[in-house]
Amino acid sequence: MRTAQRSQERVRPLLTPREIYSYLDTYIVGQERAKRTVAIAAYNHLKRCQLSPSNKRLIKKSNILLIGPTGCGKTHLARKLAECLDVPFTIADATEYTEAGYYGKDIEVMVAELLFRANHSIEECQRGIVFIDEIDKIARRCQWGRSGPTARDIGGEGVQQALLKLLEGRQIFVPLNVTQHWSKHDFVQVDTTDILFIAAGTFSDLYEYAPTRPIGFGQTSDAQQAELRIGPQQLLDYGMLAELLGRLPVQVQLQPLSEDQLLEVMTGPPDCLVREYTQLLALDAVSLHFEEEALRCIARYALSRRIGARGLRAVFEEVCHDLMFEAPERRGETLSVSSRYIEERLARL
Ligand SMILES: Nc1ncnc2c1ncn2[C@@H]1O[C@H](COP(=O)(O)OP(=O)(O)OP(=O)(O)O)[C@@H](O)[C@H]1O
Ligand SMILES: [Mg+2]
Repeated sequence: MRTAQRSQERVRPLLTPREIYSYLDTYIVGQERAKRTVAIAAYNHLKRCQLSPSNKRLIKKSNILLIGPTGCGKTHLARKLAECLDVPFTIADATEYTEAGYYGKDIEVMVAELLFRANHSIEECQRGIVFIDEIDKIARRCQWGRSGPTARDIGGEGVQQALLKLLEGRQIFVPLNVTQHWSKHDFVQVDTTDILFIAAGTFSDLYEYAPTRPIGFGQTSDAQQAELRIGPQQLLDYGMLAELLGRLPVQVQLQPLSEDQLLEVMTGPPDCLVREYTQLLALDAVSLHFEEEALRCIARYALSRRIGARGLRAVFEEVCHDLMFEAPERRGETLSVSSRYIEERLARL
């Protein structure tokens, strides 16, 4: 009851892990483990933020690392999480950052963007969540040969080093106005101790060159890919710093989507492609219908190209190209898309 009274001031009743999970589940197909893990982490984070400073010391935050092939829902998961939580949230692309002093964003800008999302409230910012995407792209690269005369790895290891201080929690100086480049900044001090960091990456080489079982030679099959466990050692070999991995203690692997799951991605979620294109054509009074076998064709195509759900939109664009062009002239018609129609279109891609 006491918490209820306190919450009347500002704090909304906390969403439970199940509630967060169920929101994520509406939009994200499969990836059960990742949805649950992220839901738990977000819940614990919110709970922790409500504690007094002395109690906070007892419960440590657990930053997360999401690992999974392209188009399996890592960034999607982050965006949907941001939608359902009531804390400042920003998505940073690790590739945009460089070591301090080089052309590119300084690592502090990550927190500056969070501060911006928090309407410049430092207190709010300090309980926010930063999603660091493409973390695998800042792997140490020197081991694979040096390029350029100086061969300084300003975008890789240097950024990892800079990230360490953010992740472990420090007082840092954050520029107030991130949009003004090179101009004199006003700085504010932000404590990153309570900011939750969720990092994500494909680590695609690990999937490509994974040792296959003795039975199969050549490329890893999808089933093997799904089973592949990526442990700390592989991540170290990939070029991630041990110190960085140590600060991302919760590591979850996302799975490549199966044919059925890709079908579900196209037809299930409220913002799915079939719904989107049907509605788009409905605006021209054309009633569009996809046969299941037609959608399976698209799913199989995405599987064969290993583009995951990411490639589905491009396929839809191609497949619906003529329909969209002709739609205004075909008002009142009902169009059914068959698998033959799809196959013909896919052959052109
Ligand atoms: N599990 C999923 N459930 C529903 N939709 C998905 C799922 N995975 C991907 N999608 C769809 O595919 C699009 C691309 O996915 P997303 O951006 O999350 O890929 P990613 O895992 O971040 O890949 P990359 O490593 O290439 O960035 C999303 O915008 C979403 O529409
Ligand atoms: Mg992504």
